Amino acid sequence: MAGPVVDGEYLKEIERTRRDLRALISSKNCAPIMLRLAWHDAGTYDKTTKTGGPNGSIRFEEEYSHGSNAGLKIAIDLLEPIKGKHRRITYADLYQLAGVVAVEVTGGPSIDFAPGRRDSSVSPKEGRLPDAKQGSKHLRDIFYRMGLSDKDIVALSGAHTLGKAHSERSGFDGAWTKEPLKFDNFYFIELLKGETAGLLKLPTDKALVEDPAFRPYVELYAKDEEAFFRDYAESHKKLSELGFVPPSISTGAKCDVSTSTLLAQTAVGVAVSVAVVILSYVYEISRKK
Ligand code: HEM
Repeated sequence: MAGPVVDGEYLKEIERTRRDLRALISSKNCAPIMLRLAWHDAGTYDKTTKTGGPNGSIRFEEEYSHGSNAGLKIAIDLLEPIKGKHRRITYADLYQLAGVVAVEVTGGPSIDFAPGRRDSSVSPKEGRLPDAKQGSKHLRDIFYRMGLSDKDIVALSGAHTLGKAHSERSGFDGAWTKEPLKFDNFYFIELLKGETAGLLKLPTDKALVEDPAFRPYVELYAKDEEAFFRDYAESHKKLSELGFVPPSISTGAKCDVSTSTLLAQTAVGVAVSVAVVILSYVYEISRKK
């Protein structure tokens, strides 16, 4: 499928969609599941085969029925009226924009959003997303396959500062922090504290404090929320753009062409006027002689 034409009108539509997403996510308190939807659409990327990634394919039953996507149909259905209203926006852009807005409306960092992702109807085979029961090696296998780094793994895991696990979806139960609708660095603070009654730690969360290369990032983010926000925004942007090269904006290109054409026309105009003035002057002088 061809990508959308990203012109001035598409950009305006993105801003209108952003406003509708803000209203939806705030009124339904559904930031956590929107963020999980964006991540599960993007996190199937394989940099070797250049398949999967943020391409909207999770909207198909073949993919949302994967065990790891349990519950995400709720988010897909919540977004359908917004897609119906802003038809030009691709599903791929819509799901990633929902993830960006989810982080922002819960108090997290602003994440730069570049539009223009194309939709795909090809779903990857089940098994590309991480299994919460495993450890560091598995996390690296999965995230390195996407082209992401150790720092990305730890920063992005900080998204568990939002939301909770539901036993009927994943087999796990409970939230990671005491304020699961606030995007802050408490996921890391709680990780370093060890077990806290009533709060959840997945085996993959615990791996971040046990692994010697991951742990320094956990310590940094627990004590410095700004460092976490900066790195999170950077890693989230990378995740949302896996396999995607933002297209150049059509209006910008037109602007460049018309500006240079205008400049050339102006230069010719000035040269002709100068020539006319000189010729009239020479003519006047020769007449007076
Ligand atoms: C590092 C590997 C990861 C594993 C193993 C993992 C696993 C899980 C599991 C088991 C749940 C509970 C699902 C449920 O029962 O509803 C969950 C929830 C969640 N995950 Fe992750 N996750 C990982 C990384 C990420 C990343 C990278 C993000 C986003 C950037 C993310 C965002 C979320 C959010 C926001 C929720 C809460 C959803 C809700 O409240 O409905 N996770 N994750």
